[in-house]
Amino acid sequence: MDIRTVGIVGAGQMGNGIAHVFALAGYDVVMTDISQSALDRAMATIGRNLDRQVTRGRIAEADRAAALGRIRTTLALADLGPSDLVIEAATEREQVKNEIFAGLLPHLAPHTILTSNTSSISITRLASRTDRPERFMGFHFMNPVPVMQLVELIRGIATDEATFRSCLAVVERLGKTAASAEDYPAFIVNRILMPMINEAVYALYEGVGSVRSIDTSLKLGANHPMGPLELADFIGLDTCLAIMNVLHEGLADTKYRPCPLLVKYVEAGWLGRKTERGFYDYRGPAPVPTR
Ligand code: CAA
Repeated sequence: MDIRTVGIVGAGQMGNGIAHVFALAGYDVVMTDISQSALDRAMATIGRNLDRQVTRGRIAEADRAAALGRIRTTLALADLGPSDLVIEAATEREQVKNEIFAGLLPHLAPHTILTSNTSSISITRLASRTDRPERFMGFHFMNPVPVMQLVELIRGIATDEATFRSCLAVVERLGKTAASAEDYPAFIVNRILMPMINEAVYALYEGVGSVRSIDTSLKLGANHPMGPLELADFIGLDTCLAIMNVLHEGLADTKYRPCPLLVKYVEAGWLGRKTERGFYDYRGPAPVPTR
């Protein structure tokens, strides 16, 4: 199927990045969220990130203007109805996602492919709550979306081959690379990445190292672009904990138990960069370790 129009639900960190890359690749994008201020913030972020690409010579000024011109924002889910492809990128809570799908389904064209950017919720279970499990799949971008090359494509048990092929063609047109993952808890990237982050929090909890020494070790000792605690703050500690819980419950193995210190940070509302405090405090001119 030839996909031209794309609906995006959620204008947060992931949603605005997804809108950015689709618009830049020439797709017409409709983005929705529950508040106008979230949509306004998202458009400002997209503008800034496009500016950054112009400044670095990655794209031309004309590409920036054209991309911004291809994104329409709306508060009405119904406006996504005619889209060829819908990507849900709302909060990582299953009930919220199910409510969004329930609100969206009566408006969707029969041919629309429905996808979720979920980082860990079962695609098969989400699909089973819709009228189109054959045309439903996982379309998982990495953060920051304009920079990261990978998209995980996850087939639910009922996803048909035509849907998979259409999504694969979209990933190629975006200039990104797809990796196909089976629908098991947290798929591939987070199945491997989150236990590493959780282990870094255990190392901190047990006093093996400080925030600074743990991050320096992995940055300079394993050539990671960010240390695991800095990366956890970047992803969001609530998201990290939610994914560890999915692994722990879904695979029923104690090796996935979330570190109590990670739980404590989330309980404190210290969720990382988005709340300006996590393993680092971001309220001053430079990040300061909180332990
Ligand atoms: N939009 C557009 N461009 C951006 C950008 C954004 N939001 N953020 C950074 N960039 C660009 C910069 O303009 C720069 O471009 P050039 O190469 O053309 O100069 C490039 O990205 C590098 O940026 P910076 O020089 O500012 O910073 P950096 O070198 O420190 O890199 C980083 C920043 C790319 C984020 C790097 O630190 C990194 O790769 N970190 C790890 C990110 C990661 O692991 N992400 C996956 C998280 S897991 C996930 O997302 C899955 C999940 O479900 C939780």
